Amino acid sequence: MPDYTNSNLTIISSEVTPGAIRWRSPSNIALVKYWGKHGNQLPSNPSVSFTLDGAATDTTLHYAVRKESGEGVDVQLFLDGEPNAGFTSRTKGFLEKILPIYPFLKQLSLVIKTSNSFPHSAGIASSASGMSALVMCLVSLEEVLFEPFADRTAFLAKASYLSRLGSGSACRSVYGGAAVWGELSALEGSSDEYAVSVTDNLHSVFQDYHDDILLISRSEKSVSSRAGHGLMEGNPYAPARYAQARQRTDEMLSVLQSGNVERFGEILESEALTLHALMMASNPPYMLLRPNTLQCIERIHEWRQATGHPLYFTLDAGPNLHLLYPHSIAAAAKAFIREQLLYFCEDKMYLADRVGKGPEQLEVSE
Ligand code: PMV
Repeated sequence: MPDYTNSNLTIISSEVTPGAIRWRSPSNIALVKYWGKHGNQLPSNPSVSFTLDGAATDTTLHYAVRKESGEGVDVQLFLDGEPNAGFTSRTKGFLEKILPIYPFLKQLSLVIKTSNSFPHSAGIASSASGMSALVMCLVSLEEVLFEPFADRTAFLAKASYLSRLGSGSACRSVYGGAAVWGELSALEGSSDEYAVSVTDNLHSVFQDYHDDILLISRSEKSVSSRAGHGLMEGNPYAPARYAQARQRTDEMLSVLQSGNVERFGEILESEALTLHALMMASNPPYMLLRPNTLQCIERIHEWRQATGHPLYFTLDAGPNLHLLYPHSIAAAAKAFIREQLLYFCEDKMYLADRVGKGPEQLEVSE
C-alpha cells in the first residue's frame, strides 16, 4: 500500500517564483463498472475502462507564494472564464483533504482556470476529466517545486492515487488506452489504491475503437453517483454483484487482448443494464434511464440483428448512451445514428469520440 504522506513537501517561500502549469485530461467510459465503495474512496470491485479522446477538461493551475498565511487552502476556480463558487468550494475541500500528502498547498495562492471540451450542460460526467486534469497539474507542480519522479510510471501512479481521492473513476483517466482500477490476482501491480494501464495488452481492433455518446437528456440527475455508491451498502444484491464484477473484469481483460468484439459487446451491455438494475433494486429505488434511452436500446438491438455489425451500448450513471464499435463499421454506424437515433436525443446531438492517448501537458496560453 503506498503511503504518500510527506511532511517534507514544504517550500522555502523566497525560492518560489510564480508560475502556471496546464494539462488536458480526458474522460473515460467504464466497460466493467465500479459501483459501490468503502473506506477512503476504495472500490468494492475492480473495474476497467477505455480512456476517451475528445471529451476532456483543459486546466491551468496558476501558483504564487501566499502573502498571508490563513486557514485551509487559498484557491479560486474559474470555469469557462467565470468565477465558480460551487467548484471553488469542492476543489478547496479536495486540496485540504490531500494536505498531508502536499503540505505546500497551504503555502501557495492558487488560481485554477478550467474548461470542458463538451458543453457544460450536456449531461456528461466531467468529474473524471476535471479531477484528473487538476491532479496532473498538481503532480507536475510537485516536480517543479521539489524533485522529478524516478520515472513516468511513478508519476502516473501518484497522479492516479490522488485522482482517486478526488473522484473514484478519475483514477483511470491518467492513462491512455485502457486502465484497470482494483486489485485482481491475475494482474500484477493492480491495486485498489490506484489504477494501472493495460494498454500494452490491447488488441489492435480496440486501439481506435469508437465511442459515440448520445445525449438523451441534459437534466440534472435525480440521484448523484455519490449517493448511488452509498445505496449499495444496503443492497441485497451487492455481494453477488461484487463477485460478478471481479469475474467480468478478468474476462474483459482477456477479451481486450483477443479482440473478440462480440463477447466484448455482450459483457458491455450486461454491465450497463446490471448497473441500472442495481439502482432500481436500491432502497429507496430509483431509475435514471429515460424512455428515449429504451427507445434507442431497442433500435440498437434491431439494427445489430439486421446488419450483424458489432455495435453495442453502455451507460454510466445517467440516461445517455455510449455506442462502442470498431472503426471498420464507422460509416454504417454513423448513418444509423443519424437516421434512427438522433431523433431521440435532446437537441438532436451526439458527441463522436474514440479511445484516446491519455492526458497531455500543454503550453500555458496566458
Ligand atoms: O467516480 P464516480 O464516483 O463518479 O463513479 C462512477 C461510476 C460509474 O461511472 C457508473 C462507473 C465507473 O466505473 O466509471
